[in-house]
Amino acid sequence: MMYQGLIERYRHRLPRIDNTAIVSLSEGNTPLIRLRHWPLQWDTDIDVYVKYEGLNPTGSFKDRGMTVAVSEAVRRGSRALICASTGNTSASAAAYAARAGLSAFVIIPDGKIAFGKLAQAMIAGAKIIQIKGNFDQGMDLVKVLAKEFSLSLVNSVNPYRLQGQKTAAFEIIEALGQVPDYHFLPVGNAGNISAHWLGYGEAAGRNNSCLDRARELLGDRFRVGVARVNRCPVMVGYQAEGAAPIVRQHIVSQPDTIATAIRIGNPQSWSTANAAVQESHGWFGTCSDDEILVAQKQLASSEGIFCEPASAITIAGLAHSISAGRIPPGSCVVCTLTGHGLKDPNIVVDNHAQNVTSVAASFDDIRDIISANL
Ligand code: F0G
Repeated sequence: MMYQGLIERYRHRLPRIDNTAIVSLSEGNTPLIRLRHWPLQWDTDIDVYVKYEGLNPTGSFKDRGMTVAVSEAVRRGSRALICASTGNTSASAAAYAARAGLSAFVIIPDGKIAFGKLAQAMIAGAKIIQIKGNFDQGMDLVKVLAKEFSLSLVNSVNPYRLQGQKTAAFEIIEALGQVPDYHFLPVGNAGNISAHWLGYGEAAGRNNSCLDRARELLGDRFRVGVARVNRCPVMVGYQAEGAAPIVRQHIVSQPDTIATAIRIGNPQSWSTANAAVQESHGWFGTCSDDEILVAQKQLASSEGIFCEPASAITIAGLAHSISAGRIPPGSCVVCTLTGHGLKDPNIVVDNHAQNVTSVAASFDDIRDIISANL
């Protein structure tokens, strides 16, 4: 049967939603790709897989959460959606609102979102409100605005978002036929790492703080599937050096990083992310912007996989962790590549101008370049 998106696929493990209310773009079912070359630089045998979430319909993992949150909004008869975003949530909300025939209001930090994401929200017809402020200020505003105008808030404080996002853990277990030993994720607003811990907890039939929180927020809408595995991975979260509130254990009032997706100083799911890492005996760490760009480049040039900077932090973080001796030989590691590289072309084009040579349209000129580079 044709794949019809993750609500259909994981119906028995998600809050019940009538077929008529389902809003889907066939999200989920993304590939888990084993890296062939990148791990060779380390003198150790670890298996590294990337979960390529950039291949979701709007190019990021947000679609997993959005299908469930927007379907629930339709089920409740909502007229419009609202979110604050560093870019990907707005792109996803705009697309799913269009699909559902709802309006969307998206609040974004002025000048700090990647070009591709802005284009996506524009073309889908969302009302885009740029604020002279950062994501955290936007988040404070949308919580009030959603109440004031009875709009469906589709940031990850909406528990239906995490329900959709937990399915990534199910897919990884199915693809590997086992639970990975370590799972690396970028941490911004901290919803996704919480959603994964929720998913792994459900899959293993082990209660945890993220499951407790979902139960508390969803009440009788909460449903949990049958346990299929008997352990959970170690969860590892990485933040950019200039936007690392969880690592520093205090709010960062002016977060800054080239990885604009995770330019967040006061994550909404801070406590559940902390719980996920503590309960799984994992850790949080930071990477510099330079390390992020190097990892992004390595992944594209050694494996052919193009992800956005925020996603590449998982690879940079894994490099740190291997160097620090935290990943024993024989380990199976999954890194989530949360968003597609095409979301943010400027960061690449600005840094790789040297790869382009301009010449006349002449055989001789081009022959010389090929000979010199062969
Ligand atoms: N990676 C990408 C590409 C993201 O867009 C985000 C978050 C994250 C990682 C972090 O995930 O927030 O669940 O910890 N982007 C949000 C947005 C904040 O508005 O698009 P998180």
